Amino acid sequence: MADYPHLLAPLDLGFDVLPNRVLMGSMHTGLEEERGGMARLARFYAERARGGVALMVTGGISPNRAGVVAWGGARMSSSAHARHHRVVTDAVRAEGGRIAMQILHAGRYAYTPFCVAPSALRSPISRFTPRALSSRGVDRTIRDFVVSAQLARYAGYHGVEIMGSEGYLINQFLAAQTNKRTDQWGGDFERRSRFALEIVSRVREAVGDDFILIYRLSMLDLVPGGSDWKEVVQLAKGVEAAGATMINTGIGWHEARIPTIATSVPRGGFKFVTKALMGSVDLPLIATNRFNDPGACEQALAEGCADMVSMARPFLADPEFVAKARAGRASHINTCIGCNQACLDHVFAQKVASCLVNPRACHETVTVPKTLKDVRVAVVGAGPAGMSSALECARAGAKVTLFEASEQFGGQFNLAKKIPGKGEFGETVRYFTAELAKHGVEVRLSTPATTERVAGFDRVVLATGVQPRLWNIPGSDRPEVVTYVDVLSGKVDVGRRVAIVGAGGIGFDVADFLTHDADEGGFHASWGVDMDLTERGGLTQPTRTSSRREVIMYQRSEGKVGGNLGKTTGWIHRQTLKQRGVKQLSGVTYEKLDAEGLHVTLADGTSHTQAVDHVVVCAGQTPHRPDNLDHPNLVVVGGARDARGLDAQRAILEGLRVAMERP
Ligand SMILES: Cc1cc2nc3c(=O)[nH]c(=O)nc-3n(C[C@H](O)[C@H](O)[C@H](O)COP(=O)(O)OP(=O)(O)OC[C@H]3O[C@@H](n4cnc5c(N)ncnc54)[C@H](O)[C@@H]3O)c2cc1C
Ligand SMILES: Cc1cc2nc3c(=O)[nH]c(=O)nc-3n(C[C@H](O)[C@H](O)[C@H](O)COP(=O)(O)O)c2cc1C
Ligand code: SF4
Repeated sequence: MADYPHLLAPLDLGFDVLPNRVLMGSMHTGLEEERGGMARLARFYAERARGGVALMVTGGISPNRAGVVAWGGARMSSSAHARHHRVVTDAVRAEGGRIAMQILHAGRYAYTPFCVAPSALRSPISRFTPRALSSRGVDRTIRDFVVSAQLARYAGYHGVEIMGSEGYLINQFLAAQTNKRTDQWGGDFERRSRFALEIVSRVREAVGDDFILIYRLSMLDLVPGGSDWKEVVQLAKGVEAAGATMINTGIGWHEARIPTIATSVPRGGFKFVTKALMGSVDLPLIATNRFNDPGACEQALAEGCADMVSMARPFLADPEFVAKARAGRASHINTCIGCNQACLDHVFAQKVASCLVNPRACHETVTVPKTLKDVRVAVVGAGPAGMSSALECARAGAKVTLFEASEQFGGQFNLAKKIPGKGEFGETVRYFTAELAKHGVEVRLSTPATTERVAGFDRVVLATGVQPRLWNIPGSDRPEVVTYVDVLSGKVDVGRRVAIVGAGGIGFDVADFLTHDADEGGFHASWGVDMDLTERGGLTQPTRTSSRREVIMYQRSEGKVGGNLGKTTGWIHRQTLKQRGVKQLSGVTYEKLDAEGLHVTLADGTSHTQAVDHVVVCAGQTPHRPDNLDHPNLVVVGGARDARGLDAQRAILEGLRVAMERP
């Protein structure tokens, strides 16, 4: 408590007192639509309630059929639906927790041909043109919100959150560019905001005074023609008068071309927005986006940026976030690294969400370790796969020794954390280091494992990772040729003209590392986020320039360079490098490297020579398996097992799976 006095202070709502200032933000997990998903969801929320979070908000649930985000999406529009949710609310209440259901109507973002919107204007991120709601349709939709809120109360929820941001239906009514109506729901801002205010006041009337009603207000649209700050304040006042309990912050429409939650967004990078609204209304305000450690939350509250902090993904990463902060064990928090790989990318691919650093998230009931009491386990390699398997085996009761050839934990995460904006990867190493010590794992750094050293263990887990794949063309033995490991570990002083061979995730990271000088002004300035809140939509001219380095990336396969990067973050990397002047060529054949430079044949058969000071090879990896190491019970995980398509999500999950089987 002494460490986080603001964060852990109770919040009086009048009819209820929240035990602290931490809200678990809304996340659609995919379990909502999964067979048997509600029981799994119940376990998911119950663990988080037990972990001490004051209030949780469910993923968005549609008030009617037209509002679902995708075909078959969850709805709350009948008492049968409500009864289906009881398992969740009962489980949360049994833990003494609180949970509100988010009501989200996707409007033109609904990925179905039956989508509706204030006007028949297609979103740039959808292929479906919505049907404009008739006046009666608008009335019916408001009624559906009201019924949904009543049903949420009947289902045992403590409240609802009305989703008014991220470019969904309510937001579409608010913005002039998506609302061209000429009836009472369109026109000036007062008329465009009527839909939102009518929903809030009629929901309040229907659910009574002792029910939490959060309104998620889009405070920074980050799209051309979005709301201006005067309209945001006017709406907040209207929402307060209409009977909301709290106002949560929404940042950026889905179609915005500015990162709002990726790891490159600084911690609490949008708290200035909520702070600007403080004092304009008396309701508690909630700040959000990229808060992932108690220190940053405490600071935001102490600075008067908000009354409460929302964290969504950090609760996938660690259900015990609040309990650990309260107990003075913040260094044991498994920190969300903002990668989106297992959460948002999964949801966009219609898969159940999880978490790269915590594969148990949303899979609590299906990732149960066996009891490994009295089993002696040697884990070889302290990269993500090795750290994960050592920790999970120790938690399951095994006696674990962890051998690491280098002098530090972390494996390739020690390179990843050097990429600008990926410093969070260091937090994962910190978390595992703290937890391995807590669970009594014997650690032997600077000790390569050998057959002799692992003799006598019941099981050996080989997690020795990968090595960079060699690049073989005439001249590839020249001194200009270096690997990504040489570059990121600071072994070479990279010159001005650089060719990067290979345009996968690591190639992009290396290009980012080498051209970061172009973003001198920092995150907000380089992306054009208006921190003065004077521009409509919160957009200003980006200050990003070209890099002083000349970088060119090559890819052997044809098609879009970087096409395999993450679904929700790939565009950020592609756009960043393009703006920094990085050239990209696909479908190339490498011919030779000589004093003139790198010679390639392009997809159209023409030749191209690039003068270079360095060629950085990012051409994939191969498994690294020491040949002086054997054991009759050897389990191979992570990159050592298979380097193809390797990422940390797979490495950490495979580490966990070791503990799910007895040797
Ligand atoms: C720049 C960069 C950025 C990346 N970004 C991402 C990202 O954004 N998302 C993502 O999912 N993945 C990312 N990765 C990939 C990710 O780091 C790897 O997939 C992951 O580290 C693989 O884990 P691992 O444990 O299998 O192997 P490694 O991380 O390679 O660890 C292997 C460990 O074994 C040790 N070792 C080797 N031989 C022995 C021995 N004989 N005895 C004892 N110890 C030994 C090594 O020293 C090392 O510490 C990135 C990688 C790099 C280089
Ligand atoms: C997997 C996933 C699903 C989400 N689903 C919703 C949703 O249904 N409704 C909503 O308002 N926000 C949703 N969000 C956005 C979060 O509420 C939050 O604004 C965002 O993740 C940034 O906060 P964080 O950095 O604390 O995660 C989702 C985010 C993720 C990662
Ligand atoms: S997958 Fe990445 S972004 Fe998502 S919760 Fe886990 S660490 Fe955070």
